[in-house]
Amino acid sequence: MSATTAYNEKVVRQFAVMTVVWGVVGMLVGVIIAAQLIWPALNFDVPWLSYGRLRPLHTNAVIFAFGGCALIATSYWVVQRTCQVPLISNKAAAFTFWGWQLVIVLAAITLPLGITQGKEYAELEWPIAVLITAVWLTYAYVFFGTIAKRKTKHIYVANWFYGAFIIAVALLHVVNNLAIPVGWTHSYPVYAGAVDAMAQWWYGHNAVGFFLTAGFLGMMYYFVPKQAERPIYSYRLSVVHFWALISIYMWAGPHHLHYTALPEWAQSLGMVFSLILLAPSWGGMINGIMTLSGAWHKLRTDPILKFLVVSLSFYGMATFEGSMMSIKTVNALSHYTEWTIGHVHAGALGWVAFITFGAIYFLIPPLYGKKQMHSVKLIEAHFWIATLGVVLYIASMWIAGVMQGLMWRAVNDDGTLTYTFIEVLSATYPYYIVRLVGGILFFVGMLMMAYNVWRTALPEQEPVAKAAAQAA
Ligand code: HEM
Ligand code: HEM
Repeated sequence: MSATTAYNEKVVRQFAVMTVVWGVVGMLVGVIIAAQLIWPALNFDVPWLSYGRLRPLHTNAVIFAFGGCALIATSYWVVQRTCQVPLISNKAAAFTFWGWQLVIVLAAITLPLGITQGKEYAELEWPIAVLITAVWLTYAYVFFGTIAKRKTKHIYVANWFYGAFIIAVALLHVVNNLAIPVGWTHSYPVYAGAVDAMAQWWYGHNAVGFFLTAGFLGMMYYFVPKQAERPIYSYRLSVVHFWALISIYMWAGPHHLHYTALPEWAQSLGMVFSLILLAPSWGGMINGIMTLSGAWHKLRTDPILKFLVVSLSFYGMATFEGSMMSIKTVNALSHYTEWTIGHVHAGALGWVAFITFGAIYFLIPPLYGKKQMHSVKLIEAHFWIATLGVVLYIASMWIAGVMQGLMWRAVNDDGTLTYTFIEVLSATYPYYIVRLVGGILFFVGMLMMAYNVWRTALPEQEPVAKAAAQAA
């Protein structure tokens, strides 16, 4: 490729590095709030360090900063290579990078100050929401514009998933953020009551479906075959997977509103669609895992492949669990308990973070003109410490969740509650400690990754300078 038509690797590198930076920040906040649940005094009576403000900071940092940077970095890399053309506009791509970082910084300032719309995963107030829209539309222009001028006839399936993610997130963001501003830091949603709740959870569930799933499936469809050096197991299955997944996800949101003021039929509809959703979810998982047919031996020596494949197992686990939790009678037990938190992190740590780690370890060496990461052993260590961390996190939350659900519903013969709320809370403490340990392990793994990326990024020493350094 000539210099004028070279792929834009700068923007991919910028987003890839910021994925690691925001991963460290977001997970550190996760560790802090996990500790605050055990020792509430850790907020030091400072309002902006209080749990209620740091929790949305954590979710925004890990989902939109860590996850978002990973998705944009990989989509820019994938779209250029699979379409065999550079990005349509380097200026527009640079705007998406700086614009997205500005959004993150504004979130990091406003959330601790308590400036929020109070809608989960859509907390940011209207001026920031407007900026997000501008950045997102530019991102859509860069991505689809690049596809439009592709040299290949075919549009590779990874791009279908990234494309669906970009369109769906634009739609979700705009519809759920429709609000009437009253000043720069406050607004009222245009919806009210049960309609507001439905709009919010239509958004919330599809944020899971399109931000935390479809985009990462795009990543899976490119990086798993690449790293395994095998074509995708079934192209036909990937097409069925795509259409089934995107058409079913849209209807599953009401499972977040079981036993609420939402009409009964809407709750049941959400449950049925969530159960059907298991089929395409597992179809995708099987397609990814089976891509390793004939290459299983590589798992023994390749920690990047380990991250990618194990992420798919967690994806299968989290989606099976989600479908079960959407059954109303199961949800009657799980809702409001730590079980939900266990489910979230099976998906967030096991699936989203693991596949991101695999993809970023894949990308960093070529982005810095190196053959491989500074230390492959350190990637291996990261894999094991992170796996142990997830297992401790989710197992402790499952046990705590089922225990809480059962204790809350236990009644004596005379109809009074068997346990007070405080008794249930104190029974949960040991599990909070195990979760904290799991979270710290996961965070340490993230630090190892940051160190490894930094060392890989350092310019190679000149042979003469190296020899001089060794002689000294
Ligand atoms: C070191 C790693 C992490 C730790 C220690 C951690 C810890 C926590 C804690 C303590 C909560 C609050 C739980 C509660 O209110 O009961 C939470 C919530 C949450 N975290 Fe994490 N987290 C980590 C990583 C991540 C990552 C990587 C993601 C996403 C990619 C993520 C996504 C979420 C979400 C979506 C929630 C809100 C769940 C809900 O409202 O049901 N976390 N996390
Ligand atoms: C077939 C796929 C899935 C289904 C049917 C599903 C279903 C569910 C259900 C029923 C809940 C509990 C709602 C409640 O009681 O409030 C839930 C919560 C949640 N799930 Fe899933 N899930 C699926 C996959 C995933 C994946 C892969 C992830 C993450 C990457 C994820 C992230 C979340 C989050 C963040 C919440 C908490 C939302 C909140 O209350 O803040 N889910 N899911």
